Amino acid sequence: MDRPAPCPETEPAAPALPRDRVAVVITAAGRGLRAGEGRPKQWRDLAGRSVLARSIDAFAGFGRIVVVVHPDDMARAVADLSGPVTLVAGGDTRSASVRAGLASLDASGLTHVLIHDGARPLVSRGVIKGVLAALAAGAPAAAPALPVADALWRGDGGRVTGFADRGGLYRAQTPQGFVLEAIAAAHRAHPEGAADDVELAHRAGLPVTITPGDDDNLKLTWPADFDRARRILGGGMDIRLGNGFDVHAFGPGDHVWLCGVRVPHGAGLVGHSDADVGMHALTDAIYGALAMGDIGRHFPPSDPRWKGAESHVFLAHAAALAREQGFRLGNADVTLICEHPKVGPHAAAMQARLAAILGVEAARISVKATTSERLGFTGRGEGIAAIATATLIGGA
Ligand code: CTP
Ligand code: MG
Repeated sequence: MDRPAPCPETEPAAPALPRDRVAVVITAAGRGLRAGEGRPKQWRDLAGRSVLARSIDAFAGFGRIVVVVHPDDMARAVADLSGPVTLVAGGDTRSASVRAGLASLDASGLTHVLIHDGARPLVSRGVIKGVLAALAAGAPAAAPALPVADALWRGDGGRVTGFADRGGLYRAQTPQGFVLEAIAAAHRAHPEGAADDVELAHRAGLPVTITPGDDDNLKLTWPADFDRARRILGGGMDIRLGNGFDVHAFGPGDHVWLCGVRVPHGAGLVGHSDADVGMHALTDAIYGALAMGDIGRHFPPSDPRWKGAESHVFLAHAAALAREQGFRLGNADVTLICEHPKVGPHAAAMQARLAAILGVEAARISVKATTSERLGFTGRGEGIAAIATATLIGGA
């Protein structure tokens, strides 16, 4: 799932720089050693598409795109990267790769360049527009960053050895935007390179404007960054849906148990346990969402331990199993089907009781009832049926 477009109110105004004046250099020639897996991170899958394909797509419509890839990856890049991008072979360092990208540009007509890490696939259009807006306003260099929020320590061998003042410190991101000729000159003047292009620009005397960064604009660096990126994209969410159905016949008695509430009635419900038909349907819905069978499997009717059992035991078991499997209940909906007793007056109490057993707020649980228009066994008052659905949410 792709994330939603940023809220228009929070986006800077549309860039005033015409797209045919802007080049975008995307660096993707690294080997991704820190990310593990033994293969370059930019080619790995991230929720259905490669990291690099996502980074490239983020710049659609902003300018002419040049992708700098490792010479060993050139054939794969030609095969895998669709759309109007120019491919260039990179160098041994990030700065060398940027230089190769800049050198490949046919400067005619171009005035500005955005330089972006191919390993930042989640950059938003708002962040890109922020940089372009600063350039359009006359800044020779502009880049997104976030003020450091955490306290800063020095450490050695797993122990704190000192402290640094976080005041005035920023975490730098990309894309970093420049007047094309100015950054090309900075690279020529400083062939030794730097961690990023803003550092080179600063060394060359260019003032650099800080534009708003975004926490989601992470650079995939370590193995765990991929999990975080998937969570941001929503791809890590695992949603399960289950249904349950149950029937119990009326028999002698003066009350029935429905969804954990004792309801006075001219008959009882016949069953091995307390015959709480609504709770049984819901319990089966949760087992169903987990694909782990049904009540009969976990609490065999042949086992005398469950004779006359209170059904909350079953529901609590299903809920605990869901938690063990890494799921939480999203919502549940129970429908009781009977002519009598009237469920409406008890629905709120049933909702509260189910919610308490499941350990969720009552607003996530629905209990409602319907008749079957006097048709069939429920219509003839021979028993009560119940259906239930439950969603379980995991992984996120
Ligand atoms: N990059 C590049 N050429 C290099 C080194 C890095 O184009 N010689 C690119 C990477 O592909 C990445 C970006 O620069 O998109 C940021 O670099 P980094 O996160 O350090 O990526 P890698 O160098 O690939 O990873 P590592 O340092 O863990 O090996
Ligand atoms: Mg690197």
